[in-house]
Amino acid sequence: MTRVFSGIKPTGHLTLGNYLGALRRWVEVDQHRSEALFCIVDLHALTVDHDPARVRRLTRQAATLLLAAGLDPERCTVFVQSHVDEHTRLSYLLECVATDGEMRRMIQYKEKAAREQRRGGSVRLSLLTYPVLMAADILAYGADEVPVGDDQAQHVELTRDLAVRFNQRYGHTFVVPKATRPKVAARVMNLQEPTSKMGKSDDSGPGIVYLLDEPETVRKKIMRAVTDSGRDVVYDREERPGVANLLEILAACRGGDPEDLCGAYASYGALKKDTAEAVIEVLRPVQARHRELCADPAYVDAVLRAGAERARKMARPTVDAAYRAIGLLPAL
Ligand code: TYM
Repeated sequence: MTRVFSGIKPTGHLTLGNYLGALRRWVEVDQHRSEALFCIVDLHALTVDHDPARVRRLTRQAATLLLAAGLDPERCTVFVQSHVDEHTRLSYLLECVATDGEMRRMIQYKEKAAREQRRGGSVRLSLLTYPVLMAADILAYGADEVPVGDDQAQHVELTRDLAVRFNQRYGHTFVVPKATRPKVAARVMNLQEPTSKMGKSDDSGPGIVYLLDEPETVRKKIMRAVTDSGRDVVYDREERPGVANLLEILAACRGGDPEDLCGAYASYGALKKDTAEAVIEVLRPVQARHRELCADPAYVDAVLRAGAERARKMARPTVDAAYRAIGLLPAL
């Protein structure tokens, strides 16, 4: 059976980008056709300036939202990264096959390091080594597939390189995984800056739809989305990124193809109105279930406890094998 692993970082409130780019597929496809693990990758949230209480709160919130969106603990494993030591154990070994140059070429590292420096902060070493920990997340479980949005493609490519290199040097140890992406909405853009990704750690609130936004807030954000001075609705990501983004969001929410939707709209206003209503409808059941789950934190705890236990059992043999393969004397 195919094994799937994916993760989400508790650095901010989850967004429509996280939902359409990743979470919805985990719920609708991956958990049904594969042995799937979904992880709230809290260690990754420590790579930039962070508030400890906020990370803890967001970790819980992300877990609750994953379940609210429809991940079923009977079908898949939902857990918190820091509850399973295998991730950091393996990460160190992979640091011993990865190179400094490889890390510095990562687009997200360059962008985030530049942002930290602009803010006058210093760049944590863990920001540089972040993709190695991500590779460890994936390789520890022998995942065949990694369902992610476009922005994670380079990190999954690196994971493949590290797996192949390790296997060649030390003997076959890891499955070489591949990224899978959604057909539409693999990169949902910021509504106010449609040439940048809608990211949960960004500051631009009005350009980001959060999964827990009230319907009225969603409506306002989408109605105020930046488009351009044209009038006709065409799907062109280069020339009309704002309109293309709305068409993608609408297509992802209602099903179908963004290009086919163009003919149905004579104005941007009508497109925005339908997009807002479609997003509100998609979020409504998730928000309702989230309210129920918030009233039952013991259930969420129990899911995370059982998930971590299952994950530990799955990761241990591969990580132990990697320790032996690389030349470490097993504990006596
Ligand atoms: P993170 O937390 O930034 O995002 C979680 C998932 O959501 C997708 N995503 C988007 N998709 C479309 N449009 C957007 N605007 C958008 N924003 C986010 C991401 O591509 C991702 O699939 N490094 C990862 C977390 C991670 C991970 C892993 C993922 C750590 N270890 C192992 C897979 C496997 C990250 O920061 O995702």
